[in-house]
Amino acid sequence: MELKVKHLCHSLDLSLEELDYLFSLAEDMMKNRAKYSSSCQNKILATLFFEPSTRTRLSFESAMLRLGGTVLGFSDSNQSSTTKGESLQDTIKTMEGYCDLMVIRHPKEGAAKLASEHSKVPVINGGDGGHQHPTQTLTDLFTIKTKLGRLTDLNIALCGDLKYGRTVHSLLLALSRYTGNTFTLISPPELEIPKYLKEQLLKSGANIIIKHKLEDLEKLDILYMTRIQRERFFNEEDYLKLKDSFILRKYMLKDAKDNLLILHPLPRVNEIHPDVDNDHRATYFEQAHLGVYIRMALIYSLIKGGEQNA
Ligand code: CP
Repeated sequence: MELKVKHLCHSLDLSLEELDYLFSLAEDMMKNRAKYSSSCQNKILATLFFEPSTRTRLSFESAMLRLGGTVLGFSDSNQSSTTKGESLQDTIKTMEGYCDLMVIRHPKEGAAKLASEHSKVPVINGGDGGHQHPTQTLTDLFTIKTKLGRLTDLNIALCGDLKYGRTVHSLLLALSRYTGNTFTLISPPELEIPKYLKEQLLKSGANIIIKHKLEDLEKLDILYMTRIQRERFFNEEDYLKLKDSFILRKYMLKDAKDNLLILHPLPRVNEIHPDVDNDHRATYFEQAHLGVYIRMALIYSLIKGGEQNA
């Protein structure tokens, strides 16, 4: 199946049918790794990371290497000519001649979209400010589908920094396209989801409950914890006031469902105590691992789509 999009900038860029295709492909890649080990031979992935990352950058690099391709890029914008005043557009126009597709993470909202408008090769958004993180959403959806077998009729709580957390913004929009899901949004009052997002969700008919306490865990199918996004605060004092608003402890899970999925995009700070890690419902490290396979599926599909259109 050919993806209709050339770039991936937003979690709503892919149709539900395209998502299903990517999930099936990722599952096949997970089960039959050898089959795909040369499928991107002679192809180059560039990772342009203007903000720090462990999982997104390195899982993309791992994905490309497992497909037989190679990688280049930078993990710190101070190593790039951005420090000399080069514009994002000029960086992209240069990089398109050095690679077959690129992943970009940038502190400015809309940076990946702008990059895609200047690039002849596919651009993947690896996170743009507090806006979107579509490949984390692919990882989250693939994890839910793999572990629970469905993306519908789920009782999902998202807890933490819902104002600045781009993973939450992307995931909420993506999950609201599936029927029967209920979203409990748990945050400090100061960090509720942005108004534009709330309006968009309500318009789509999503069932939303706003809360300021981490409670009633026994009703949940998924608990998606997130960290308070220190780097997006305007002053340290506000961050310090809110940083430990929610801390999930093992004892809090005693009445939770046996097949509850505890997810977190990571990195965590304090919001999940390490005593949860050995609970069979703690799925966050497996989630990070599954991110490699869904990114393999995405790279493969975008490269094959580009070859067909060449
Ligand atoms: N989930 C995620 O984006 O992690 P990194 O910041 O480590 O890439």
